[in-house]
Amino acid sequence: MDNLAVEKVKTRSVHVSTVMQNNEVTELQTVEHNISVTPFVKWAGGKTALLGDIRKFYPSELGKNINKYCEPFVGGGAVLFDVLSNYCIEEIYISDVNRELINVYKTIRDNVEALISILDSIQSEYALFNVEKQKEYYYDKRDEFNLYITNKITDRVYGSALFIFLNRTCFNGLYRVNNEGLFNVPMGAYVNPKICDKENLRNVSIKLRNVKIECAAYDKSIDFIDANTLVYFDPPYRPLLETVSFTSYSKHKFTDREQLKLAEYFKKVSQKGAVCILSNSDPKNLNEDDNFFDDLYKDFTINRIKSKRRINSNADRRGDVSELLITNVLDINEGEL
Ligand SMILES: C[S@@+](CC[C@H](N)C(=O)[O-])C[C@H]1O[C@@H](n2cnc3c(N)ncnc32)[C@H](O)[C@@H]1O
Repeated sequence: MDNLAVEKVKTRSVHVSTVMQNNEVTELQTVEHNISVTPFVKWAGGKTALLGDIRKFYPSELGKNINKYCEPFVGGGAVLFDVLSNYCIEEIYISDVNRELINVYKTIRDNVEALISILDSIQSEYALFNVEKQKEYYYDKRDEFNLYITNKITDRVYGSALFIFLNRTCFNGLYRVNNEGLFNVPMGAYVNPKICDKENLRNVSIKLRNVKIECAAYDKSIDFIDANTLVYFDPPYRPLLETVSFTSYSKHKFTDREQLKLAEYFKKVSQKGAVCILSNSDPKNLNEDDNFFDDLYKDFTINRIKSKRRINSNADRRGDVSELLITNVLDINEGEL
């Protein structure tokens, strides 16, 4: 073959491989687009039950002009996973101050097979034990997890596996720490808890591939947010009754002063042109005259939605409690997905 012929063959094969790669990319994008993902942890204040209401506030431009998504109090990420399952978003930023939780997100994104392999062994071991042995195993793993919190165990994949195991087997899937920041939730009562949901973990890993994941306070998201961003804020709720407050996701407390600072941040981000949605408790459930949030967010739209949350541990007080969804969105999307 002369040089010209060799060149032609080379050119053709480069062209063919480009076409192949493009097809593969398109196929991959289609596959990714069709994947549905759900939270991999139970999380206090998780929003799965309220998704139907929250979706109504997604801007109609989501996935089009609004091509960035930010969730700075991500927790279990019910809204994040809903958005990831249903929209093509170009850039995503999530954060939380709970370092161990954020490490799980990173491990799932970067190292999912190693995580699955550890979780699989934990699940098989746990299933063989009787209740007494399971209890011993739970408290041993809780001790190990606290060694991980205090950096005496440094393997992030193992620490993440412990996190998921404890979340699946502890009382109500709570994450609560004492004043020293040590995890102190007792064991729950589950028969055959699903410790390793391989399919969802693998799907979450694919979906998190290009997500920016930060262990940071919510206001570190400022540089990410612009006029093309949807921001969903789900901070620790302002307690309705001090006695039943649950705000100890980490050793830092979210006080009224923090709520005030957050309202200022909401305003700042709104001024950047971002679409904002914020959840919180409604103090009017207990005191009609408590205008705490009505005052803080007087420049925005305050919606009251019904939820089945409990106000206190007394079963009589269960039932329809209202929660706040505060937004600067004007074109409310009443349609279902
Ligand atoms: C109500 S939960 C979020 C629940 C989440 N939307 C879900 O569906 O699971 C609030 C989260 O905010 C986190 N958090 C508390 N203070 C924070 C802060 N200053 N900045 C960022 N995250 C914070 C907590 O660790 C917790 O995970």
